[in-house]
Amino acid sequence: MPAPKDFNDRMLSLGLARVSEAAAHASATLIGRGDEKAADQAAVNAMRDQLNKLDIKGVVVIGEGERDEAPMLYIGEEVGAGNGPEVDIALDPLEGTTLTAKDMPNALTVIAMAPRGTLLHAPDVYMDKLAIGPGYDTDVVSLDMTPTERVEALAKAGGVKPSDITVCILERPRHEDLIAEVRATGAAIRLITDGDVAGVMHCAEPELTGIDMYMGAGGAPEGVLAASALKCMGGQMWGRLMFRNDDERGRAAKAGITDLDRIYSRDEMVTADVIFSATGVTNGSIVRGVKREPKYLETETILMRSKTGSVRRMIYRNPIR
Ligand code: FBP
Repeated sequence: MPAPKDFNDRMLSLGLARVSEAAAHASATLIGRGDEKAADQAAVNAMRDQLNKLDIKGVVVIGEGERDEAPMLYIGEEVGAGNGPEVDIALDPLEGTTLTAKDMPNALTVIAMAPRGTLLHAPDVYMDKLAIGPGYDTDVVSLDMTPTERVEALAKAGGVKPSDITVCILERPRHEDLIAEVRATGAAIRLITDGDVAGVMHCAEPELTGIDMYMGAGGAPEGVLAASALKCMGGQMWGRLMFRNDDERGRAAKAGITDLDRIYSRDEMVTADVIFSATGVTNGSIVRGVKREPKYLETETILMRSKTGSVRRMIYRNPIR
C-alpha cells in the first residue's frame, strides 16, 4: 500500500511541541550535574508519556536503540493513543547527553513525525554527512567530492572566497584528516564536541549561526532527524551509512537496507512531508536552553512543518508547583 502523502500535520504539530517541551522540562534539573544517564532517562520518560497522549498510531523508527537494548522508545515500539493517523516517529529525547551533563551549548530534545513508511529506518551506525543551507543550486556539493572540492564549489556558488566559508565538524580523532584538509583550503572550522543535529541545522540559518556547511561522520539516527529539520527549514543534505564490522552490516540488513554504499539525499531519508520539534535544553544558537527561575521553568521550542515551510519559535512558561 503506498504511504499516504498527508496526515493531520497542522494540528498534530502543536502536540509535537508539547512532547519535546516535556522532555526538556524533565531534564532541566539534571543540567550540569555530570550524570548523562539520569538526564537521558528523565527525558525519555517524559517524552514517552506525552507521545502516548497524541491521537496517532505511531511507530518509533528512530529511537533509543533495538528492543533488547532499550526498555522505552525502542525501534518498533508502538506509541500514541492508537486512534489517529499511522505515522513514523523519529526521536532523540536528549540529543547531547554529555552537553547536558556538562552544561555546554546546543543540547536539544528532538522529535519528527511523518506518514507511515516515509522515514529512513537508519540503523544505529555512523553516517557520513554533508549539509548546506538554502539558496544553492541542487547538488552544488556532493559526498563524492573531496572536502577541498566541496569548500571551493560552495564558495564559487556563493560568490565568495574559500576563506569566507565556515564548516562545522564534530571534534573527533576520526576527523583529523578532514579537519586538516578543510583548514588547508583557508576555510574556518567551528568544532563541536557533540550534537550534530544542531550542527546540521546551523547550516539552514547561516546569518544567525555563521555556519555554511556541515561535514563528517556522526550517528545515522541523528542524520535522519537532521534531514527532517532541513526539509522544513530549507537546505540540502546527504548521508552515506558507514559500516565497521559484520554486526553493523547485520543492523542494516535488519532495517531492510541492501545497498550499503548508497548516498541518501535529504528527500530520500524523509520521503514525504514531516513535522519537527526541538526544545533547547542548554543555550544554543537555534533555541535558548531551559531557564530555571524559583517559580517557573521556561523553554524555547522550534516547531516546523515541511509542507508549508513554517517555522514557529515558541516560549513556554510553566509554574513550578
Ligand atoms: P548522545 O546525545 O547520544 O550522546 O549523542 C551525541 C552525538 O554527538 C550526536 O550528535 C552524534 O551524531 C553522535 O553523538 C556522534 O557519535 P560519537 O560520539 O560516537 O562520535
